[in-house]
Amino acid sequence: MTSEKIQRVGVIGAGQMGAGIAEVCARAHVDVLVCEPSRELAAAGRARILRSLDRGVSSGKITDREREQAAWRLRFTSDLGDFADRQLVVEAVTEDEKVKTAVFAELDSVVTDPRAVLASNTSSIPIMKLAMATENASRVVGMHFFNPVPVLPLVELVTTLTTSAEVGARAEHFAHEVLGKEVVRSADRSGFIANALLVPYLLSAIRMVESGFATVEDVDKTISLGLAHPMGPLKLSDLIGLDTVKAIADSMYEEFKEPLYSAPPLLLRMVEAGRMGKKSGHGFYQYS
Ligand code: CAA
Repeated sequence: MTSEKIQRVGVIGAGQMGAGIAEVCARAHVDVLVCEPSRELAAAGRARILRSLDRGVSSGKITDREREQAAWRLRFTSDLGDFADRQLVVEAVTEDEKVKTAVFAELDSVVTDPRAVLASNTSSIPIMKLAMATENASRVVGMHFFNPVPVLPLVELVTTLTTSAEVGARAEHFAHEVLGKEVVRSADRSGFIANALLVPYLLSAIRMVESGFATVEDVDKTISLGLAHPMGPLKLSDLIGLDTVKAIADSMYEEFKEPLYSAPPLLLRMVEAGRMGKKSGHGFYQYS
């Protein structure tokens, strides 16, 4: 039933997406338990969320008191077993099908409520592949948030052939009514709506640079000044993370065999070199 209020949420992973999802849930007065495998990763995740809450205060989006209350609603654990009582869990681990399916298999055995929502924030992996790792595939959906999560107001909701209508409705209700996000529904295909459009564009921009057709700066300037996008495709690739752009491209290529979705060699070399974009301090741009 959509009427049973979701008050206990779990988030798996506190990287840039998981941290953002945990933050918006805590700001929406929900009890949030975040799972990270080590104390160090948990501390880094908490610090990431607190920095973003501080930014919310300094930009006048939230008050000091709201920041304090949100921080109090966030707890961390290294044991997924602690998620037994969660009514909604959002998985936001690395964009790797093997890792995500293992998480879903474990999560399914831990979360007791048969109507709980088990959601993945995957950008590109078909949700059915994750649902099939569970015994109760009716609980599994995709809830795809956008980075920075506290700023961008959209969630792509992906239901599968096996998702129950009730679970889909609960997920939509939570994203819209509790988090205040706009929700669009997408069929269960690799890349959903946003990345099906975004990824060929990002990869085309990388190919332009790779071929020497235009510089990084000029490609980005063209798009931000000429088309009024908030940032150009290379800066955006750095923000998303070049390893993540590659992972999304790989799953979309696997599904469609569309040449525009294949990762160009420059992207592969940058990932191999550890240049992951903003998060590693170096991508198409340098970050201090
Ligand atoms: N909490 C609350 N508000 C915040 C915040 C936070 N942590 N961080 C920033 N903000 C607010 C700021 O206060 C500001 O609000 P106002 O406009 O009302 O003043 C607004 O967000 C913009 O922030 P800034 O002025 O600091 O920065 P900016 O104007 O340079 O914008 C940006 C930065 C929001 C990242 C903008 O450049 C942008 O939207 N870029 C595009 C990002 C994008 O396309 N993301 C999607 C990536 S794809 C994805 O995520 C999915 C996938 O599967 C790959």
